[in-house]
Amino acid sequence: MAHALDIPDSLSCRCRRWSEGLRPIKDMGSCIGYMERELPELLEDNDLFREILRAIVERDSYPDINTDTMFVNEIVLFRDPVRGFSLRMCLWGPGEYDPVHDHNSWGVIGTVSGCLTVVGYQRLDGGSDERCAVIEEAGRELLPVGCTYSVLPLNQGIHCTGNADASAIVQVGVYGKNITGRNYIHAFDPATGEISRLYSPQAKKRMLARQALLSL
Ligand SMILES: [Fe+2]
Repeated sequence: MAHALDIPDSLSCRCRRWSEGLRPIKDMGSCIGYMERELPELLEDNDLFREILRAIVERDSYPDINTDTMFVNEIVLFRDPVRGFSLRMCLWGPGEYDPVHDHNSWGVIGTVSGCLTVVGYQRLDGGSDERCAVIEEAGRELLPVGCTYSVLPLNQGIHCTGNADASAIVQVGVYGKNITGRNYIHAFDPATGEISRLYSPQAKKRMLARQALLSL
């Protein structure tokens, strides 16, 4: 039976420090710079992540694997009470990649175990069409343990991430405030240019329920 396990003290302390550190910073580049300096130490804390992974396996109450997230392999580890950032973990099986996508905020991501692949894309059209885009690969990085990659919001940060390794790997990311107000992100098909909206399963259910109500 699951037993209660709160957020580990060492993680809670770090997150509170980040909250204080990020609060006075107003520009996105400096927020990214702050997290690029702070995140590597967390990425190399094997004891902490062993504790978190074991808690997931043993169905402990923390971390809650049922919270509202965009991707099925994503787990929220901490939400800043003043909404400055969230800390998320992604678990990747061998050969798994997310769709090419944008974000609603800045982000700094890194690898806890294995080697994360990040493919960046640039948008070659005007960038204003919400249904179709011309994108091309702009760079591919392999992130070993402790290394970070920064993400910008919207068209400046189109990318996909995944796992080219033969075993499951762990990625962690810190994401800033949602600056777009969207409750979805854009997913891009690099071959056809088609853009679709990607909602969290929970947000999609709420949206469709709202629409369905209109016809009842
Ligand atoms: Fe992403």
